[in-house]
Amino acid sequence: MESDREHSGRILAVGGGKGGVGKSFIISSLGMSLARKGRVVMIDGDLGGANLHNFLGVSPPKTALADFFERKTPLAELIVASGIENLGLIGGMIGTTGAENIKHAQKKKLFNHILRLEADYILIDLGAGAHFNTIDTVLLADDKIIVVTPEINSIENMYNFLRNLFFRRLGGALGVHGYRELAISVWKERQELGIRNFKQLIDHLKDISPELHRLIDRELAGFKINLVLNQAKGHRDIMIGNSVKSVCRKFFGIDTLYSGYVEYDESVSHSINRGVPYMNTFAASRCARCIEKLADNLMAGRQVRIS
Ligand SMILES: Nc1ncnc2c1ncn2[C@@H]1O[C@H](COP(=O)(O)OP(=O)(O)OP(=O)(O)O)[C@@H](O)[C@H]1O
Ligand SMILES: [Mg+2]
Repeated sequence: MESDREHSGRILAVGGGKGGVGKSFIISSLGMSLARKGRVVMIDGDLGGANLHNFLGVSPPKTALADFFERKTPLAELIVASGIENLGLIGGMIGTTGAENIKHAQKKKLFNHILRLEADYILIDLGAGAHFNTIDTVLLADDKIIVVTPEINSIENMYNFLRNLFFRRLGGALGVHGYRELAISVWKERQELGIRNFKQLIDHLKDISPELHRLIDRELAGFKINLVLNQAKGHRDIMIGNSVKSVCRKFFGIDTLYSGYVEYDESVSHSINRGVPYMNTFAASRCARCIEKLADNLMAGRQVRIS
């Protein structure tokens, strides 16, 4: 897929298993922040539940992704003004079709068009759930942002999403190198083999051959996940990001980047309901400053520093 890449823009996609954690709020706010640095195109990839326009304070675009799939309109022609300088929006599909209804060929074509968009930053909002079309879009991105709130349901959902993400990525790489059947048979026999989590599966596969060991190490080393903790109401909530990071290391054997936390602010829902973009109206708020810090951390590959 990298070889199809013609633009020089950076792709950021936001996923996470659970609905309502703040994916759309965070990606739209990041978009507004990044639009001060370069040209941003935001894609509402929440198929079936598109609502990104509400966060930007505009009406649903008249043309949208549905036209790409149903009328074959080139993606670049679907960009509409958002009212925010330097920020274009490609609308999603409201109540028509979900991620599960996009066929492989359509997805490939969409990804090719995304990779050819002329922008400095391409931001993709995705719906809840871990459908493989959603997973593949996150895998396409340079910055794979996973949003979680300090709630156990959201955290459990996130682990499930990450597991699916890792399996898909590793499964693809193992398949290319002829190890797909082997990995499937190890997974089927996991109970007999005493494999209880993703890390133990990886360790088992690595022990099979030095070649497999190298392949897995290479895949996992290039696999960066950016974790964002949203709706934090205090220091204890902020620390949850660190715990999640430790759990990922222990059970997945993978270092995630704790890229930022965003404080809870009642004004977020007020601004959405009033149709005013939060980042403009509440630019000086603590929550907006968290978003600015998050944008800086993401761009620099930095993490939250807390004690
Ligand atoms: N930092 C925050 N402080 C206060 N409220 C927030 C914050 N982030 C999000 N919200 C609230 O949570 C609601 C859900 O946010 P959002 O729509 O961004 O979630 P989502 O993850 O995109 O949901 P879905 O999976 O349904 O698309 C928002 O309408 C807003 O009211
Ligand atoms: Mg959303």
